[in-house]
Amino acid sequence: MTKVTDRLADIPWAALQAMPLEQKATFFNRADGGEEHVLIAQQFGRARLEAIGRLATCIRRIAKQREGMRFLRGRLNHLRAMLYFTQPSSRTFLSFRSACATLGVDCSEIRDTSTSSEVKGETQDDSVRTFSSYCDLIIMRTPAGGQAERTAWLLAHSDRPLPVLNAGSGKDQHPTQAVLDIYTLQRSFEDRGGIDGKCIVFVGDLLRGRTVRSLAYLLTNYRDMELMFVAPEELQIGDDILAMLDAASVRYTRSDDFDAAVAQADAVYMTRVQDEWDSADHESRRIDVSRFFFTPRHLNILPATGVLLHPFPRRHEIDVAVDHDPRAVYWRQMRNGMWVRAALVAGLFHAADEIEAYARDREQA
Ligand code: NCD
Repeated sequence: MTKVTDRLADIPWAALQAMPLEQKATFFNRADGGEEHVLIAQQFGRARLEAIGRLATCIRRIAKQREGMRFLRGRLNHLRAMLYFTQPSSRTFLSFRSACATLGVDCSEIRDTSTSSEVKGETQDDSVRTFSSYCDLIIMRTPAGGQAERTAWLLAHSDRPLPVLNAGSGKDQHPTQAVLDIYTLQRSFEDRGGIDGKCIVFVGDLLRGRTVRSLAYLLTNYRDMELMFVAPEELQIGDDILAMLDAASVRYTRSDDFDAAVAQADAVYMTRVQDEWDSADHESRRIDVSRFFFTPRHLNILPATGVLLHPFPRRHEIDVAVDHDPRAVYWRQMRNGMWVRAALVAGLFHAADEIEAYARDREQA
């Protein structure tokens, strides 16, 4: 069997970059259906999303007990991870670090390139090869799109090919956030037939929000979906995402009528204005987003079974007065991130089967 790393090592960088995302994904997944890297949402089909959800739930339950935690910490305690985060992060960084700790993985971190040799003029490629000398896994968030992919490709051409996890790359992808969002939706709709047939409303900066882009793709794995994109015209969803939805025959609408969309939603996914991508002109300051603010009034409009998500950080998208409502699931969504990231890391290192076996044995005991 050809290993994915071998295949990645065989292909020139320009050829990889020129590929459609679905084809690219085949270079990042293993032949057994698991991942060798986690780089783009297109790596995840429905069966895999369900398997990751089951594993995340096993880890979540096992971790409730000291004995279980001891078991989990013994799974990958021979490994070290490098957290390379050169863009701000609270949740993604902390949840990855906690996920690693849960599995016994030791973490090092670089969060500020001014304290690394990049400031002395070291190339990014050399920096990455340096990290690879000291760790077994690289988790990275970068302002540039495609950098995690580049790292995986580069290391596949070295004598230390390591798994690479994309923890957010530029404006384009945030695959682990999208997988945890799917897990949150799976759990929210557990008693309502799952994600199939649901209406998901995306609100905010849909043009530059990478969480929206990755999640919209993952939702094409489900049947009879309806997506509604609610935003001011300047921040509406990009044509590439719409083309992807058309290709997958997913129904969608675009509008700026927030109340009407909330009334039809099974899930509302709020996002903030991504003004870090503004030009020096601060163009998004001129856009009025005040009408896309979820307040207690919207709790009366949202169906009783609807849920409210947000990848956070939040600014003025959701009134804190909404937090106490059981349909506001964003705090649970945040914690789900830790379990999903632990499941993804466990999967990369083939630890899923033994974790599931432990969970089964414990249930029978
Ligand atoms: C998101 C991100 O970084 O893209 N945050 C996160 O990872 N939860 C969303 C955002 O910054 O708005």
